[in-house]
Amino acid sequence: MSDIIIAIDGHSATGKSSTAKKVAKHLGYIYLDSGAMYRATTLYFLNNKIILASIDQIQKALNKIDIEFRKDKNGLPLTFLNGKNVEDKIRTMEISSKVSGVSAIKAVRVAMVEQQRKLGEHKGIVMDGRDIGSVVFPNAELKIFMTASANVRAERRQKELAEKGQTVPFKEILKNVVDRDEQDSTRKESPLIKVDDAIEIDNSNMSFEEQVNQIIELAESKITADV
Ligand code: DC
Repeated sequence: MSDIIIAIDGHSATGKSSTAKKVAKHLGYIYLDSGAMYRATTLYFLNNKIILASIDQIQKALNKIDIEFRKDKNGLPLTFLNGKNVEDKIRTMEISSKVSGVSAIKAVRVAMVEQQRKLGEHKGIVMDGRDIGSVVFPNAELKIFMTASANVRAERRQKELAEKGQTVPFKEILKNVVDRDEQDSTRKESPLIKVDDAIEIDNSNMSFEEQVNQIIELAESKITADV
């Protein structure tokens, strides 16, 4: 049985990461949250007051950024930026509102994609993001495009933030979700697109278990077909 690459792309707050995590665990695959890498880069730029219009500053900063994923005691991935756990810091509304700007920069994408490809060179990986099936792994054996209505996504994100103790008005979250979709889909560099060979899953009316099971079934049929 040979390992495959599973690319999960789609709109913001569609539950790509939680789904990808669960699918990876079931298959015994590595999970990689590519959005966390763009978020950690955004945090570094913010902390170091990097001017986004300065390619020189960006290039120097990129050479100083080291992003790693380590596991917590339950085996869940934590994002480390230059040796520090930044998992909570990269999930704030401030980072969410700035990350689309940073991820639209070509030099940033080149640096991230290079690392992502290295992490997937042995296959057996589930990676979620915006350009995984289109740019990072165009030959991925299974490509999923996840979407859901903006209202449903904003509701889920609000609940998620509340569970972490962050109270954010619904309107603000909805605006962030809609704005990020717009920016991610219309940017020049690697815009979010549904590639022809991706399977679209609209999970507006689906339970989390249903979508996880659907992807596991699709993955298992690919893995078996690949024997
Ligand atoms: O998946 P996420 O919402 O944590 O991603 C945060 C942002 O990073 C998202 O708005 C767009 C960007 N991103 C990207 O451009 N390419 C990826 N492969 C993953 C994320």
